[in-house]
Amino acid sequence: MSTETQRKRIEAKIGPSILNANLADLGAECEKLMKAGADYLHLDVMDGHFVPNITFGHPVVKCLRRQIGGKPFFDMHMMVAEPEKWIVPMYDAGADQYTFHIEATRDAAACVRKIKENQMKVGIGIKPKTPIDVVLPFIKDVDVILIMTVEPGFGGQKFMSEMMPKVRSLRKEFPYLDIEVDGGVGPETIIECADAGANMIVSGTAVIQADDQQSVIKYMKDTVHAAINKQ
Ligand code: DX5
Ligand code: ZN
Repeated sequence: MSTETQRKRIEAKIGPSILNANLADLGAECEKLMKAGADYLHLDVMDGHFVPNITFGHPVVKCLRRQIGGKPFFDMHMMVAEPEKWIVPMYDAGADQYTFHIEATRDAAACVRKIKENQMKVGIGIKPKTPIDVVLPFIKDVDVILIMTVEPGFGGQKFMSEMMPKVRSLRKEFPYLDIEVDGGVGPETIIECADAGANMIVSGTAVIQADDQQSVIKYMKDTVHAAINKQ
């Protein structure tokens, strides 16, 4: 199979992060995003230990799952210490994908196994200072690698272009892998992400604050789609 054909097998997907949305009206915010063309919902879970902030946990995810129609894909970004602890509760709550940070666990392999046993897709995330090499031994066993493009913990931070070599090197070696970027991504920075080879795009503030969420999502999706077809 030619490289071009392989590349075409990756899909461009946009997953808005609801971190900076109105969390008191999360169900409506999520439904609005799905109507605007989101491919999935990126749900940021923070525990005040792994990152200096707290958001929500599995009880909220469970309510969201019950409330929102159309069974949207829930991509859990677990910015928590001891990520092993929440795998079963998150599965029970209706999560579809469980991304943990490799910096947060002593046994990433066990974490990967447990997520799979609980029938969720598996993601491993790395913070900006973590080199890409640490995830290489796990790539064959995971569905997605998340490259943070800000320090995890807060929405609305500045995109770190210097993370793009990580994306680029991963894409070069793994043409089929889902590579997700998260932090400061929006219409101004999407081109860098797309050119480097990211295909799963998390975008918080840029989508949430947009007057026309639909066109922002479409623009980013078209940009990534074009880059996939070009590479
Ligand atoms: C940061 C979170 C991100 C981020 C996305 O810790 O994981 O999902 O808030 O929001 P923006 O796009 O505003 O950086
Ligand atoms: Zn996130």
